[in-house]
Amino acid sequence: MIIDLSGEPVATPKEFSKPEGNKEMLKLGLEMEKQDIENYRKHAQMAEELDLVELQLQLDEMVSEEAGHAWELRRILKGL
Ligand SMILES: [Fe+2]
Repeated sequence: MIIDLSGEPVATPKEFSKPEGNKEMLKLGLEMEKQDIENYRKHAQMAEELDLVELQLQLDEMVSEEAGHAWELRRILKGL
């Protein structure tokens, strides 16, 4: 989509401190999933405003996938 709009895709890895221990790593993973959900929601909203229905649907699906990941991490953390 970015290329279709004459843009150049750029991917910069997120900076984060390495947590100590499994539980802290899972907590960080959960926070990152929540951040991804928020970002995809914002982009889905932007796609809707631009009437880019297909992109909006793809982003909504990505929100759903990330919400599933977050749910799984919450479930694991609850058992620890
Ligand atoms: Fe994820």
